[in-house]
Amino acid sequence: IRDDAAATSNYVANYIIDRINAYKPTAQNPFVLGLPTGSSPLGVYKVLVQKYKAGEISFDNVVTFNMDEYVGIPRDHPESYHSFMWNNFFSHVNVHPSNVHILNGNAPSLEAECVAYEDAIKRVGGIDLFLAGIGEDGHIAFNEPGSSLASRTRVKTLAYDTILANSRFFGNDVDKVPRMALTVGVQTVLEAREVVVIILGQRKALALQRCIEQGVNHMWTLSSLQLHPHPMIVADEDATLEL
Ligand code: GLP
Repeated sequence: IRDDAAATSNYVANYIIDRINAYKPTAQNPFVLGLPTGSSPLGVYKVLVQKYKAGEISFDNVVTFNMDEYVGIPRDHPESYHSFMWNNFFSHVNVHPSNVHILNGNAPSLEAECVAYEDAIKRVGGIDLFLAGIGEDGHIAFNEPGSSLASRTRVKTLAYDTILANSRFFGNDVDKVPRMALTVGVQTVLEAREVVVIILGQRKALALQRCIEQGVNHMWTLSSLQLHPHPMIVADEDATLEL
């Protein structure tokens, strides 16, 4: 628990940097990093970019997999997760474009796209560290309430609460928010060797309480982290109000 969003983001960014540097990644043995979108990780990306510019971290041998992507909006739409990642992070560091993986929400076969994504993760030996945020309903990636805890990368219909929450990025117009997304599954996240979750603000407080103080269940999918051998939740004070 850290005092505020800035201190929480700093902690998470420095933790990721320490992990990558300790791993000493090479082209043959890259560090595989899972990444989220949303407002919660923005501060982490800012610090990672600053530290890259200060020479404290290189992303030369880092391979990335994003958690999710909307279905049916163009890749270059300002609110696509593809645009989000390039605008907020990838364009500012030395990651190789060929090492970046983001699900294609416009693939001719969405099912085939999801299978290929799981295969790509396997081919690089699995994810070393998955960074995540959560929704107000406790969802991780786009694993909405009711998702199977054994789920893998797939097409998911978004919950109305998520559409409402994300409408702030679409001019507060719920009709403009995509209804579906591609997302890694709960099981895909649980298979990462380490999972780090950043949780900021009072509006996430109920979700944090449900996910860590109550039992594992598919209505609050972050609660699945209780089954992971190496999880870490980093939260600001406001997010802990219900604990
Ligand atoms: C979306 C993303 C999640 C993210 C959530 C919370 O639903 N698919 O990965 O955790 O938004 O976003 P924010 O951090 O903006 O509250």
